[in-house]
Amino acid sequence: MCDINNTSFADCWLPRAAQARVSLSPQDTARAELADLWQNLAVAGSFDLRVEGEGEGYLLEKQAGVWRVSGGATGVLYGAHSLGFLLRGGEQPPDGFTLRSAPAFTHRIINHWDNMDGTIERGYAGRSLFFSGGGISYSEERIYHYARLLASVGVNAVAINNVNVRPDAARLITPDLLPQVAALAAIFRSCGVRLILSVSYASPVMLGDLTHADPRSGESARWWGERMNLIYSHVPDLLGVLIKADSENQPGPYQYDGCDQADGANLVAKAIAPHGGFVFWRCFVYNCKQDWRDRETDRPKAAYEAFRPIDGKFAPNVVLQVKNGPYDFQIREPVSPLLGAMPNTAQALEFQITGEYTGQQVDLCYLAPLWSDTLTFDTRLREKGRVADFAGGAVSSIAGVANTGDDSNWCGHALAAANLFAFGRLAWSPLSPPEDIAGQWCGLMFNGEARGVVQNMLLDSRRIYENYTTPLGMCWFVTPHYHYGPDPLGYEFSKWGTYHRADRRAVGIDRSPSGTGFSLQYAPPVADLYGDIDRCPEELLLFFHRAEYTRKLKSGKTLLQTLYDLHFLGAAQAEELIARWGALEGAVDAEIFANVAERLRRQAENARQWRDVFNTFFFRLSGIPDEAGRVISI
Ligand code: GCU
Repeated sequence: MCDINNTSFADCWLPRAAQARVSLSPQDTARAELADLWQNLAVAGSFDLRVEGEGEGYLLEKQAGVWRVSGGATGVLYGAHSLGFLLRGGEQPPDGFTLRSAPAFTHRIINHWDNMDGTIERGYAGRSLFFSGGGISYSEERIYHYARLLASVGVNAVAINNVNVRPDAARLITPDLLPQVAALAAIFRSCGVRLILSVSYASPVMLGDLTHADPRSGESARWWGERMNLIYSHVPDLLGVLIKADSENQPGPYQYDGCDQADGANLVAKAIAPHGGFVFWRCFVYNCKQDWRDRETDRPKAAYEAFRPIDGKFAPNVVLQVKNGPYDFQIREPVSPLLGAMPNTAQALEFQITGEYTGQQVDLCYLAPLWSDTLTFDTRLREKGRVADFAGGAVSSIAGVANTGDDSNWCGHALAAANLFAFGRLAWSPLSPPEDIAGQWCGLMFNGEARGVVQNMLLDSRRIYENYTTPLGMCWFVTPHYHYGPDPLGYEFSKWGTYHRADRRAVGIDRSPSGTGFSLQYAPPVADLYGDIDRCPEELLLFFHRAEYTRKLKSGKTLLQTLYDLHFLGAAQAEELIARWGALEGAVDAEIFANVAERLRRQAENARQWRDVFNTFFFRLSGIPDEAGRVISI
């Protein structure tokens, strides 16, 4: 039987509710964590904590029954958590054991898309942990517990508010709200986590101080300089600001004739530089008012076109934040060609932990395999050119859009916490195999046979989700705005640049050199592969190519039959998940069991809907029946 009585993985190895230790330094927190660990797990022998040197790495050693944790001030905290995971996972390392570890990415960041009214953009786990009713409002204990949860997997920064900055959130950088931001920062600081604030590029205008946000004007520079002095007088260790500019109706430097993204980013960067801060500047810049009839514009090309030509123009403290794919967090996309392609500019890789397009924490979708595909992707931009090889260098940072909220289990779906865990693990160690991470998380959360069963469910889940939604890189087939459930034409005649262009004979967009030429944004060997319909990996076929339904795939089946089959398969697999989980009744905590069982039922219903809408849509268009004679359209 599982002996845990709540659903956070950190509590899994420290079952008592955490006391907020707001005033402690990370090293004192580390000491307290170890003391708790010893008490709760009745660990034999003693521990010794040594703070030496700088940095976030740590060394764990066991000698004559004594566990020694050494490292810099935050290093020992990560070491303490690592030891906790080790022991809670049931391991009993012998004397002589040593483990040396250091993080790959410098800044390992969680981005909250929380609004001041307490709602969360694309949030599926309750309301904001930080805001409600237009102001800052939180439980100190819960925030401490959250900081601790993040620190336990090595996260060292958190942006607390939405990248879409509305007027109420613009006030976060005013004397009204900065004292409360500072109080929040103090809680996170005790766990080695630094704050980031999302700010609008047009803050001076939003706050009523200037009539423009022209990056070339002395007024703008003065405003930002003074504002940064104010912000840092309250939060001296703020890691920086996060800015979504010229993106989905957010203001930006493009509004000013002749200005580019570097002009905007550098304006803020110069003001924050004396305080040691960074500007995380998002590259999600594209025309969101496209005419669907326009076949020249191709949204996946946009970020590269906007940023690649101005490599070298950015201030050293600008970090360009690039989504993992060129579109927008779809279940299968190629890796963004911008990643690693700007050797003279720091970048951050952005993942979406929250399940906007990946099941919204109703459907099970363990994302580490998707992220690992990105991290192990060989850009061929240099000899060691995997995205993971750039970690801490050209891609200095990594950010994940949070999947957490005030639900008691943090993530709504109890198993979605595996994604938060995996994000932290991959940010620390980007080549960790997703199966090992799943295994480790299951080891913390479950006992006995449940560990293996859940691990396999997690590992199968991404493919299952892909099978019944948009396989072969098709993308965009979701209900507009909500992004859950199928709507074949929902985005087809819209302005968002998101089309599959299915007709009675074929589907997909030709992005090869004879089409939009998107494939040419990759280094030559990759461009050649993607640009050739016969060599393109089939899982991305419809991303890069327009293919006829009758086209034969490697399996010998036609494209359309493959799509039909995958949808029948995916829906059946979703149904099977219910039984796989059902077998664990009594073997896992009752609350977790009920939570997951309820979501798996909804997932199976969603999968059926996807199967039938998808297959019916293509059957009606093509008139080609399923070879197996299954019922498609009634
Ligand atoms: C997606 C998402 C938006 C979000 C945007 C972003 O488009 O649907 O809600 O604001 O990404 O990353 O900025």
